Amino acid sequence: MSSPYVLVLYYSRHGATRTLAQHIARGVEQAGMEARLRTVPAISTVCESTAPAVPDEGAPYCTEADLANCAGLALGSPTRFGNMAAPMKYFIDGTSSIWLSGKLINKPASVFTSSSSIHGGQESTLLSMMLPLMHQGMVIAGLPYSESELLSTQSGGTPYGATHVAGRDNSNTPDETELSLCRAQGKRLGELALKLLEQ
Ligand SMILES: Cc1cc2nc3c(=O)[nH]c(=O)nc-3n(C[C@H](O)[C@H](O)[C@H](O)COP(=O)(O)O)c2cc1C
Repeated sequence: MSSPYVLVLYYSRHGATRTLAQHIARGVEQAGMEARLRTVPAISTVCESTAPAVPDEGAPYCTEADLANCAGLALGSPTRFGNMAAPMKYFIDGTSSIWLSGKLINKPASVFTSSSSIHGGQESTLLSMMLPLMHQGMVIAGLPYSESELLSTQSGGTPYGATHVAGRDNSNTPDETELSLCRAQGKRLGELALKLLEQ
């Protein structure tokens, strides 16, 4: 049996959501909880090729056990047409057995995203990412306004979860405000997971 961990599960094509995930993982560890970074493979409408067993870059692919046995979950995806990216949705749609087992019930969860434009649908993406987690019985945690950067940010950062504004052509790297809110979100999630484990 492994020690308790918060799963930081993301999909990223251009690397921005991966950077957010890495900073959320740092925050989780600041809370004294292990963070387990995992990703999901890209999908295609053309099915003659399969992804390599080990990704070329980034975290290992998430297994069903990684998700089922986590003490908490941070879920991240780029915004695609105001919603999560298909590879993450595809992964989630394969978690019926976890839903049947009830293994995620009462575990804390939070969400994060990256979009090209500041009004390009970050909030709708975050809110829609919460829905399957609520079906799984998870307890959703956002970002409280005690994180004062939520009031001053000129880039990403929402009360529904950490975000990044990638800009046209994905030319912006996450700024210090966006990354600091990621760490705050990870820390809060780690602390909540520890408290719920004590129950
Ligand atoms: C099919 C598709 C749909 C997208 N839809 C949106 C959108 O609705 N709003 C937006 O601001 N950006 C949109 N984008 C841009 C992505 O959100 C952006 O490339 C992403 O945040 C980069 O994250 P990553 O570096 O983790 O891949 C879209 C990109 C693609 C490929």
